[in-house]
Amino acid sequence: MPKTPNLSVEIGGLILKNPVITASGTFGYGNELNQLINLSSLGAIIVKGLSLEPMPGNPPPRIVETPCGILNSIGLANVGIKAFIKEKLPALHKIKTPIIANIYGHSMSEYAKITKIIEDTEKIAALEVNISCPNVEKGGMAFGTDSYTAAKVTEHVKKNTTKPVIVKLTPNVTDITSIAVAVESAGAQALSVTNTILGMAVDVPTRKPKLANIIGGLSGPAIKPLALYLVYKVANRVKIPVIGLGGIMNYEDALEFLIVGATAIQIGTATFVNPKTAIEVVDGLHNYCLRKKIHTINQITGSLKEYGESNEKS
Ligand SMILES: Cc1cc2nc3c(=O)[nH]c(=O)nc-3n(C[C@H](O)[C@H](O)[C@H](O)COP(=O)(O)O)c2cc1C
Repeated sequence: MPKTPNLSVEIGGLILKNPVITASGTFGYGNELNQLINLSSLGAIIVKGLSLEPMPGNPPPRIVETPCGILNSIGLANVGIKAFIKEKLPALHKIKTPIIANIYGHSMSEYAKITKIIEDTEKIAALEVNISCPNVEKGGMAFGTDSYTAAKVTEHVKKNTTKPVIVKLTPNVTDITSIAVAVESAGAQALSVTNTILGMAVDVPTRKPKLANIIGGLSGPAIKPLALYLVYKVANRVKIPVIGLGGIMNYEDALEFLIVGATAIQIGTATFVNPKTAIEVVDGLHNYCLRKKIHTINQITGSLKEYGESNEKS
Protein backbone atom coordinates (compact mmCIF):
# COMPACT_ATOMS: atom_id res chain seq x y z
CA MET A 1 0.00 0.00 0.00
CA PRO A 2 1.56 3.35 -0.97
CA LYS A 3 1.85 5.79 1.94
CA THR A 4 -0.76 8.58 1.92
CA PRO A 5 1.17 11.79 1.29
CA ASN A 6 1.10 14.49 3.93
CA LEU A 7 -0.23 17.61 2.22
CA SER A 8 -0.37 19.76 5.34
CA VAL A 9 1.43 23.09 5.53
CA GLU A 10 1.98 25.69 8.23
CA ILE A 11 1.29 29.38 7.72
CA GLY A 12 2.31 31.53 10.69
CA GLY A 13 1.39 28.84 13.21
CA LEU A 14 -1.85 27.93 11.43
CA ILE A 15 -1.89 24.34 10.19
CA LEU A 16 -3.74 23.77 6.92
CA LYS A 17 -4.66 20.22 5.89
CA ASN A 18 -3.44 21.02 2.37
CA PRO A 19 -1.90 24.04 0.63
CA VAL A 20 -4.97 24.97 -1.45
CA ILE A 21 -6.74 28.18 -0.43
CA THR A 22 -9.52 30.09 -2.17
CA ALA A 23 -8.57 33.66 -3.13
CA SER A 24 -10.35 36.72 -1.79
CA GLY A 25 -13.11 38.16 -3.95
CA THR A 26 -13.47 35.01 -6.03
CA PHE A 27 -15.19 32.81 -3.45
CA GLY A 28 -17.85 35.12 -2.03
CA TYR A 29 -18.30 35.01 1.74
CA GLY A 30 -17.31 31.35 1.79
CA ASN A 31 -20.65 29.57 1.86
CA GLU A 32 -21.97 30.28 -1.64
CA LEU A 33 -20.36 27.17 -3.17
CA ASN A 34 -21.38 24.86 -0.32
CA GLN A 35 -23.80 22.95 -2.57
CA LEU A 36 -21.16 22.30 -5.23
CA ILE A 37 -18.06 21.36 -3.28
CA ASN A 38 -17.08 20.01 0.10
CA LEU A 39 -15.68 23.13 1.73
CA SER A 40 -14.07 21.06 4.48
CA SER A 41 -11.70 19.56 1.88
CA LEU A 42 -10.03 22.92 1.24
CA GLY A 43 -6.84 24.03 2.96
CA ALA A 44 -8.46 27.36 3.90
CA ILE A 45 -11.06 29.80 2.67
CA ILE A 46 -10.25 33.48 2.26
CA VAL A 47 -13.40 35.54 2.12
CA LYS A 48 -14.20 38.68 0.14
CA GLY A 49 -12.32 41.83 1.16
CA LEU A 50 -13.94 43.31 4.27
CA SER A 51 -13.95 46.95 5.35
CA LEU A 52 -15.06 48.65 8.56
CA GLU A 53 -18.24 50.01 6.95
CA PRO A 54 -20.27 48.49 4.06
CA MET A 55 -19.02 49.55 0.61
CA PRO A 56 -21.11 49.69 -2.60
CA GLY A 57 -18.06 49.35 -4.85
CA ASN A 58 -17.68 50.91 -8.30
CA PRO A 59 -20.48 51.39 -10.86
CA PRO A 60 -21.01 48.67 -13.49
CA PRO A 61 -19.76 47.37 -15.83
CA ARG A 62 -17.07 46.21 -13.48
CA ILE A 63 -15.96 42.88 -14.93
CA VAL A 64 -14.84 42.32 -18.50
CA GLU A 65 -13.30 39.28 -20.12
CA THR A 66 -9.91 39.70 -21.86
CA PRO A 67 -7.77 37.14 -23.71
CA CYS A 68 -6.75 34.56 -21.07
CA GLY A 69 -8.06 36.62 -18.16
CA ILE A 70 -10.52 39.08 -16.70
CA LEU A 71 -10.33 42.72 -15.74
CA ASN A 72 -12.30 43.72 -12.65
CA SER A 73 -13.01 47.02 -10.99
CA ILE A 74 -15.33 45.74 -8.27
CA GLY A 75 -13.97 48.40 -5.92
CA LEU A 76 -14.05 46.08 -2.92
CA ALA A 77 -17.85 46.07 -2.57
CA ASN A 78 -18.76 44.29 0.68
CA VAL A 79 -21.23 44.20 3.55
CA GLY A 80 -18.73 45.45 6.14
CA ILE A 81 -17.02 43.49 8.90
CA LYS A 82 -19.87 43.65 11.42
CA ALA A 83 -22.55 42.37 9.01
CA PHE A 84 -20.13 39.68 7.82
CA ILE A 85 -19.66 38.38 11.34
CA LYS A 86 -23.38 38.57 12.16
CA GLU A 87 -24.99 37.44 8.90
CA LYS A 88 -22.45 35.45 6.85
CA LEU A 89 -20.03 33.78 9.26
CA PRO A 90 -22.60 31.60 11.11
CA ALA A 91 -23.13 29.61 7.88
CA LEU A 92 -19.45 28.58 8.05
CA HIS A 93 -19.46 27.36 11.64
CA LYS A 94 -19.67 23.66 10.79
CA ILE A 95 -16.98 23.83 8.13
CA LYS A 96 -13.76 22.20 9.24
CA THR A 97 -11.53 24.56 7.30
CA PRO A 98 -9.86 27.69 8.62
CA ILE A 99 -11.61 30.89 7.57
CA ILE A 100 -9.26 33.76 6.77
CA ALA A 101 -10.62 37.32 6.65
CA ASN A 102 -9.22 39.54 3.90
CA ILE A 103 -9.31 43.09 5.24
CA TYR A 104 -8.66 46.56 3.96
CA GLY A 105 -8.96 50.06 5.38
CA HIS A 106 -8.94 53.60 4.10
CA SER A 107 -6.57 54.62 6.87
CA MET A 108 -4.18 53.04 9.38
CA SER A 109 -6.75 53.45 12.13
CA GLU A 110 -9.41 51.65 10.07
CA TYR A 111 -7.08 48.67 9.65
CA ALA A 112 -6.55 48.67 13.42
CA LYS A 113 -10.30 48.86 14.14
CA ILE A 114 -11.23 45.98 11.84
CA THR A 115 -8.42 43.92 13.32
CA LYS A 116 -9.72 44.47 16.86
CA ILE A 117 -13.20 43.31 15.84
CA ILE A 118 -11.75 40.17 14.24
CA GLU A 119 -9.57 39.47 17.27
CA ASP A 120 -12.75 38.77 19.26
CA THR A 121 -14.19 36.49 16.55
CA GLU A 122 -13.18 32.92 17.25
CA LYS A 123 -14.19 31.42 13.90
CA ILE A 124 -11.78 33.66 11.98
CA ALA A 125 -8.42 31.89 12.07
CA ALA A 126 -6.15 34.47 10.46
CA LEU A 127 -6.08 37.78 8.61
CA GLU A 128 -4.99 38.52 5.09
CA VAL A 129 -4.24 42.23 4.85
CA ASN A 130 -4.89 43.79 1.46
CA ILE A 131 -2.53 46.75 1.15
CA SER A 132 -3.24 47.70 -2.43
CA CYS A 133 -6.21 49.99 -1.90
CA PRO A 134 -6.02 53.80 -2.04
CA ASN A 135 -4.68 55.54 1.02
CA VAL A 136 -6.93 58.50 1.64
CA GLU A 137 -4.84 59.68 4.61
CA LYS A 138 -1.88 60.11 2.29
CA GLY A 139 -3.64 61.63 -0.69
CA GLY A 140 -4.59 58.52 -2.62
CA MET A 141 -1.24 56.77 -2.71
CA ALA A 142 -1.64 53.03 -2.35
CA PHE A 143 -0.42 51.59 0.97
CA GLY A 144 1.22 48.66 -0.71
CA THR A 145 3.40 50.57 -3.16
CA ASP A 146 5.58 52.15 -0.50
CA SER A 147 7.78 50.16 1.89
CA TYR A 148 7.28 52.57 4.79
CA THR A 149 3.47 52.65 4.65
CA ALA A 150 3.27 48.91 3.93
CA ALA A 151 5.28 48.27 7.10
CA LYS A 152 3.18 50.75 9.12
CA VAL A 153 -0.09 49.04 8.12
CA THR A 154 1.41 45.70 9.09
CA GLU A 155 2.44 47.10 12.50
CA HIS A 156 -1.05 48.53 13.10
CA VAL A 157 -2.62 45.14 12.39
CA LYS A 158 -0.03 43.14 14.34
CA LYS A 159 -0.43 45.34 17.42
CA ASN A 160 -4.12 44.46 17.61
CA THR A 161 -4.16 40.72 17.04
CA THR A 162 -2.79 37.43 18.24
CA LYS A 163 -3.94 35.69 15.02
CA PRO A 164 -1.55 34.99 12.13
CA VAL A 165 -1.14 37.99 9.82
CA ILE A 166 -0.67 37.42 6.10
CA VAL A 167 0.04 40.51 4.01
CA LYS A 168 -1.09 40.50 0.39
CA LEU A 169 1.30 42.34 -1.90
CA THR A 170 0.55 44.26 -5.05
CA PRO A 171 2.50 43.52 -8.24
CA ASN A 172 2.13 47.16 -9.35
CA VAL A 173 5.52 48.24 -8.03
CA THR A 174 9.06 48.50 -9.35
CA ASP A 175 10.66 46.28 -6.70
CA ILE A 176 8.32 43.93 -4.84
CA THR A 177 11.16 42.49 -2.74
CA SER A 178 11.79 45.77 -0.87
CA ILE A 179 8.10 45.88 0.14
CA ALA A 180 8.20 42.18 1.10
CA VAL A 181 11.25 42.68 3.31
CA ALA A 182 9.73 45.77 4.99
CA VAL A 183 6.48 43.94 5.72
CA GLU A 184 8.36 40.90 7.06
CA SER A 185 10.40 43.14 9.39
CA ALA A 186 7.14 44.71 10.61
CA GLY A 187 5.96 41.30 11.80
CA ALA A 188 3.99 39.72 8.94
CA GLN A 189 3.94 35.93 9.33
CA ALA A 190 3.29 35.19 5.63
CA LEU A 191 2.92 36.98 2.30
CA SER A 192 0.38 36.45 -0.47
CA VAL A 193 1.87 37.15 -3.90
CA THR A 194 0.13 38.50 -5.90
CA ASN A 195 -2.92 40.73 -6.28
CA THR A 196 -4.18 41.80 -9.71
CA ILE A 197 -2.14 43.78 -12.25
CA LEU A 198 -3.50 47.15 -13.39
CA GLY A 199 -4.98 47.09 -16.87
CA MET A 200 -7.69 48.45 -19.16
CA ALA A 201 -9.73 47.56 -22.23
CA VAL A 202 -11.41 49.77 -24.84
CA ASP A 203 -14.54 49.14 -26.92
CA VAL A 204 -13.44 50.39 -30.36
CA PRO A 205 -16.90 51.06 -31.93
CA THR A 206 -17.89 53.41 -29.08
CA ARG A 207 -14.31 54.36 -28.07
CA LYS A 208 -15.41 53.92 -24.48
CA PRO A 209 -13.54 52.03 -21.77
CA LYS A 210 -15.05 48.60 -21.22
CA LEU A 211 -15.03 49.23 -17.46
CA ALA A 212 -17.00 52.18 -16.10
CA ASN A 213 -14.04 52.79 -13.78
CA ILE A 214 -11.72 52.89 -16.87
CA ILE A 215 -8.98 50.85 -15.17
CA GLY A 216 -9.21 47.55 -13.39
CA GLY A 217 -7.14 44.62 -12.14
CA LEU A 218 -6.12 41.83 -14.50
CA SER A 219 -6.27 38.25 -13.23
CA GLY A 220 -6.33 34.72 -14.65
CA PRO A 221 -3.86 32.74 -16.78
CA ALA A 222 -2.67 35.93 -18.51
CA ILE A 223 -0.80 36.92 -15.33
CA LYS A 224 0.62 33.52 -14.34
CA PRO A 225 4.19 33.98 -15.68
CA LEU A 226 4.50 37.34 -13.94
CA ALA A 227 2.99 36.05 -10.69
CA LEU A 228 5.34 33.06 -10.76
CA TYR A 229 8.34 35.36 -11.25
CA LEU A 230 7.25 37.56 -8.33
CA VAL A 231 6.78 34.54 -6.04
CA TYR A 232 10.24 33.28 -7.05
CA LYS A 233 11.81 36.68 -6.30
CA VAL A 234 10.01 37.18 -2.98
CA ALA A 235 10.49 33.61 -1.73
CA ASN A 236 14.22 34.00 -2.27
CA ARG A 237 14.34 37.16 -0.15
CA VAL A 238 12.15 36.44 2.90
CA LYS A 239 12.11 33.72 5.54
CA ILE A 240 8.34 33.72 6.12
CA PRO A 241 6.07 31.50 3.96
CA VAL A 242 4.90 32.86 0.62
CA ILE A 243 1.42 31.98 -0.64
CA GLY A 244 1.48 32.05 -4.44
CA LEU A 245 -1.39 33.06 -6.67
CA GLY A 246 -2.12 34.46 -10.07
CA GLY A 247 -3.63 32.45 -12.90
CA ILE A 248 -3.55 29.00 -11.29
CA MET A 249 -6.00 26.84 -13.27
CA ASN A 250 -4.95 23.29 -12.33
CA TYR A 251 -2.62 21.27 -10.09
CA GLU A 252 0.29 21.58 -12.50
CA ASP A 253 0.10 25.37 -12.30
CA ALA A 254 -0.01 24.99 -8.51
CA LEU A 255 3.11 22.80 -8.63
CA GLU A 256 4.98 25.51 -10.56
CA PHE A 257 4.29 27.96 -7.72
CA LEU A 258 5.39 25.45 -5.07
CA ILE A 259 8.57 24.61 -6.98
CA VAL A 260 9.63 28.28 -7.17
CA GLY A 261 9.17 28.66 -3.42
CA ALA A 262 5.50 28.98 -2.43
CA THR A 263 4.41 27.11 0.70
CA ALA A 264 0.74 27.28 -0.30
CA ILE A 265 -1.30 28.57 -3.23
CA GLN A 266 -4.62 30.28 -3.88
CA ILE A 267 -7.21 29.65 -6.55
CA GLY A 268 -8.89 32.82 -7.81
CA THR A 269 -10.34 33.46 -11.27
CA ALA A 270 -10.29 29.72 -12.07
CA THR A 271 -13.26 29.27 -9.72
CA PHE A 272 -15.38 31.41 -12.10
CA VAL A 273 -14.56 29.01 -14.95
CA ASN A 274 -14.95 25.83 -12.93
CA PRO A 275 -16.22 26.12 -9.34
CA LYS A 276 -14.59 22.78 -8.50
CA THR A 277 -11.07 23.89 -9.44
CA ALA A 278 -9.77 24.19 -5.86
CA ILE A 279 -10.94 20.66 -4.99
CA GLU A 280 -9.49 19.30 -8.24
CA VAL A 281 -6.16 20.93 -7.39
CA VAL A 282 -6.19 19.25 -3.95
CA ASP A 283 -6.81 15.87 -5.63
CA GLY A 284 -4.21 16.59 -8.32
CA LEU A 285 -1.51 17.41 -5.76
CA HIS A 286 -2.42 14.32 -3.73
CA ASN A 287 -2.16 12.03 -6.76
CA TYR A 288 1.06 13.68 -7.95
CA CYS A 289 2.70 13.07 -4.56
CA LEU A 290 1.48 9.47 -4.57
CA ARG A 291 2.81 8.89 -8.10
CA LYS A 292 6.17 10.48 -7.36
CA LYS A 293 6.43 8.88 -3.89
CA ILE A 294 6.70 12.31 -2.26
CA HIS A 295 5.85 11.90 1.42
CA THR A 296 5.25 15.53 2.34
CA ILE A 297 4.23 18.39 0.07
CA ASN A 298 6.83 20.63 1.76
CA GLN A 299 9.50 18.69 -0.14
CA ILE A 300 8.28 20.38 -3.32
CA THR A 301 8.50 23.94 -2.00
CA GLY A 302 11.59 25.68 -3.38
CA SER A 303 12.77 22.56 -5.26
CA LEU A 304 13.57 24.45 -8.47
CA LYS A 305 16.65 22.96 -10.10
CA GLU A 306 19.42 24.83 -11.83
CA TYR A 307 19.75 24.50 -15.55
CA GLY A 308 23.03 22.58 -15.31
CA GLU A 309 21.59 19.93 -12.98
CA SER A 310 20.65 16.48 -14.18
CA ASN A 311 17.50 16.32 -16.25
CA GLU A 312 16.27 13.30 -14.33
CA LYS A 313 12.52 13.75 -14.03
CA SER A 314 11.09 13.95 -10.55
C1 LIG B 1 -13.70 39.72 -9.09
C2 LIG B 1 -12.48 39.77 -8.22
C3 LIG B 1 -12.57 40.32 -6.95
C4 LIG B 1 -11.44 40.39 -6.13
N1 LIG B 1 -11.55 40.92 -4.86
C5 LIG B 1 -10.46 40.94 -4.05
C6 LIG B 1 -10.56 41.40 -2.70
O1 LIG B 1 -11.64 41.76 -2.23
N2 LIG B 1 -9.42 41.43 -1.95
C7 LIG B 1 -8.20 41.01 -2.43
O2 LIG B 1 -7.20 41.05 -1.71
N3 LIG B 1 -8.09 40.52 -3.69
C8 LIG B 1 -9.18 40.48 -4.51
N4 LIG B 1 -9.06 39.97 -5.78
C9 LIG B 1 -7.76 39.48 -6.25
C10 LIG B 1 -7.66 37.95 -6.14
O3 LIG B 1 -7.80 37.50 -4.82
C11 LIG B 1 -6.31 37.46 -6.71
O4 LIG B 1 -5.26 38.07 -6.00
C12 LIG B 1 -6.12 37.79 -8.18
O5 LIG B 1 -7.33 37.65 -8.89
C13 LIG B 1 -5.03 36.93 -8.85
O6 LIG B 1 -5.33 35.56 -8.77
P1 LIG B 1 -6.10 34.76 -9.96
O7 LIG B 1 -5.40 35.10 -11.25
O8 LIG B 1 -5.98 33.32 -9.58
O9 LIG B 1 -7.50 35.26 -9.95
C14 LIG B 1 -10.18 39.90 -6.62
C15 LIG B 1 -10.12 39.35 -7.89
C16 LIG B 1 -11.23 39.27 -8.70
C17 LIG B 1 -11.11 38.65 -10.06
